[in-house]
Amino acid sequence: MNKGPIGIFDSGIGGTSIWREINKILPNEATIYLADSKNAPYGEKSKEQILELSIKNVEFLLKKGCKLIVVACNTATTNAIKELRAAYSTPMIGIEPAIKPAALNSKTKTVGVLATKGTLSSALFNSTSEIHANGIKILDQVGSGLVELIEKGEVHTSETRELLQAYLEPMLSKGMDQLVLGCTHYPYLIPLIKEILPDNIKIIDSGEGVARQTKNVLLLNNLMNHSQSETLEHQFFTNADVSVLEGFLKDVSVPYKAQYLDF
Ligand code: DGL
Repeated sequence: MNKGPIGIFDSGIGGTSIWREINKILPNEATIYLADSKNAPYGEKSKEQILELSIKNVEFLLKKGCKLIVVACNTATTNAIKELRAAYSTPMIGIEPAIKPAALNSKTKTVGVLATKGTLSSALFNSTSEIHANGIKILDQVGSGLVELIEKGEVHTSETRELLQAYLEPMLSKGMDQLVLGCTHYPYLIPLIKEILPDNIKIIDSGEGVARQTKNVLLLNNLMNHSQSETLEHQFFTNADVSVLEGFLKDVSVPYKAQYLDF
């Protein structure tokens, strides 16, 4: 039993989509969320830069007493999780594009993956897609510019729609019937994506799976909080505009504190 918080970080606000899933299935766990929005997008950076930023984020969360860390960023996971796991004894959970369920579900044997350049060019992504894509055509598409728009809160503007259309329509015409969202920012685009894609295209993201894995690892390491007595703290830190972060949390029903911090 451990009452310490779960630490969660992303290059920005995208990982709050993962925070939601974690809070849903682990409502008795305190959390600390770190949005490194000042350095977004990670997807355009080198592996070395992504690792350096990830270490900075992990150090911050460990100093705050986190008992487990969720790397709520596909780009940081696919470029840095191996090194992070080797460097720290604290359990680390990562997130990767959910190619496996998409490949299993696809009737057209054609799966689209929308993700950052950093994720799609990583060795981890390429080895995972080779394992699961037996007989399946993977259409990968870099979502250039989308993270920047989402970081500005533009989840439903005409600019975002045009960019998404330019990325999704070619995949559609090549027969995609499953779209994997390989970036934790993209679940915030689902309403817009649904307007663009026909109803029969399945949209898959990894949020729920990551939350289940977080619970399993807490159980396995005897790290769950079984105490019911105290009020749980949920703290959110951003090194950019706190009002944008708050905008993404406005429907959150549990008490939380969001603040700016220059880290
Ligand atoms: N949320 C990050 C991911 O899942 C966005 C990466 C970026 O900052 O480019 O990949």
